[in-house]
Formats: sequence, structure tokens, C-alpha cells
Amino acid sequence: MKAVIPAAGLGTRFLPATKAQPKEMLPVFNKPTIQYVVEEAVSSGIDDILIITGKGKRSIEDHFDRSFELEYSLRNSGKTENLREIEAISDMADIYYVRQKKQKGLGDAISTAKNHIDGEPFAVLLGDTIAQSKVPCTKQLMDAFYKCEASTIAIERVPDEKIERYGIIKGTQFSDSVYKIEDMVEKPSFQEAPSNLAITGRYILVPEIFDHIKDVKPGVGGEIQLTDAMRSLDAVYGYVFDGKIYDIGNTFEWLKSSIEIALMDDNVRDELKQYLRECLSKGN
Ligand code: UTP
Repeated sequence: MKAVIPAAGLGTRFLPATKAQPKEMLPVFNKPTIQYVVEEAVSSGIDDILIITGKGKRSIEDHFDRSFELEYSLRNSGKTENLREIEAISDMADIYYVRQKKQKGLGDAISTAKNHIDGEPFAVLLGDTIAQSKVPCTKQLMDAFYKCEASTIAIERVPDEKIERYGIIKGTQFSDSVYKIEDMVEKPSFQEAPSNLAITGRYILVPEIFDHIKDVKPGVGGEIQLTDAMRSLDAVYGYVFDGKIYDIGNTFEWLKSSIEIALMDDNVRDELKQYLRECLSKGN
């Protein structure tokens, strides 16, 4: 299976940080967000990845490319640990790029992948969303997809106050963690929301989705929504995956993600906990 990583968005919720750099390149703890996303695809067994980029996103390509000057310098100064790390980034997978010329929404971004996907089911991993789990989220979804034999998307229960930020599903429970989706609503108010199960940024889609995207009329802000295209597919299943999603789309969520992910690292956990305790006790 191939993976598509949309990363062409303007990142307006994260301005001014995203004025001259892609939000997908903002580091969470010790590496750029999109590196976590590529690593998830690779550890799910995917080695063909298409990243959808756009204007101002060159640093994404540079990040996954070889950097001969840097490698030469690290080798000469004996920094072998750093050298290995840098070489591993460019060796991870076959990464291809396509540009979305105008930021017309996620559905439009996905439509640029049509030729590369070539009629097979494919995984979509949003470039600004990190999934942390024992078994990679995309791997869990792929397993669910092969059982359901239809498009399958990752869903997560969200607290009431966060409902209006997500696409929310209406569905009937099919098995322990699988829902058959009857409808999806993009960013509903709490009162209008059919459930608290949110679409979280990981999808396995059938190639028919491309025809459905073509029929979608622009919605809020003139955007072609992927949710609208999925609504007209014959069958879509929601899979409550075992793990946690970090959406770094706005400053506060990004900050929380960095802290939580740093707390998972054995080398910094104790020092960071101590620092956070000190901050809280000083009340700043
Ligand atoms: P978002 O809606 O969170 O990204 O899309 P955005 O449009 O950059 O955010 P704001 O609202 O302006 O702050 C989720 C993912 O889809 C990509 C984004 O890059 C992000 O990784 N995307 C979004 C595209 O590739 N193209 C688009 O037209 C929109």
C-alpha cells in the first residue's frame, strides 16, 4: 500500500510561526512533525510515500533528501551518532512529491495524488498530526481495512468542548472498536454533533474516492472537503484506534504535544518533570 501525506496547507492558525516555514516542519520535542508521520508510515510497512506540498514547502523536500556537506562535516568531525541519524532520515523510504497549486482544501490536496496512486487503496496521514501508539496507527487501520473491505478511518473520542474542531461521525457500532459510518459532519457545534467520535487524520481510502472528490462542491471558505467526498462513498468504517493523536495545528496543541512527547523520552523525563514542578510552584 502507498501513503499520501498532505502537507500543503497554509497553517494560518499557527501564524506568524508559519509565515516562512511549513507548519509540518515545526519540531515537536526533537524532530519535525512530518518526520514522525513518515516514520509511522514506514513502521506500518509502507515504503512508497507521496507528500503533497505547495509554495513555501521546500524545506520538507530538503529534510528527506541527502545533505552531502553536512554528512561530510559530521564524518570529518567524528560525530558518528549524528551522521547515522541524518543518513537514516534520507534512507527511510521512497518519497515522492506533488504540488497542490492552490490551497483549496484537503479533498483537493488528495486529488493531486490520483496518478501516483494508480487505482489501488491507499493510506492518508495528515502531515500536521502525530499518532502515538504501540502498534502504529496506520498499521492498525490497514488491518481493520482488510477486515472491513471498505474505506476505514481512524476515530477518537474527544471531550465535548473540542467537538467543534473536528469532523464528527454518526455511526452504529459494528464490533468492539469498529463503527459503520452513516454520516459525517465537519466541525459541528456541540448541540448539533451526532456523537463525540472525531475523525483524527488517518485514513485508508479506496481509489473511487478520486471520482467522489470531483463531484464535491466547495464548502466553507471555498474548500473542497475530504469529508464531503467520503460521505458519498458506498461504505466507510470508523476504527477507534488504540493510541493517542496529537494535532499540532495550533500553538497550544503544539506546545502540549511537545511536552507530552518529551515526557515519553527516558533521557529528559525526570529533568522536565522537575522543571515543570518548579514552574508550577512559582506560579509562572
Ligand atoms: P488543516 O486544515 O489542519 O491545515 O489541514 P491548514 O489549512 O494548513 O490549517 P489552517 O486552518 O490554515 O491553520 C490538515 C492537513 O492537510 C493539509 C495541511 O498541510 C495539513 O497537514 N492541507 C490542508 C493541504 O495539503 N492542502 C489544503 O488545501 C489544506
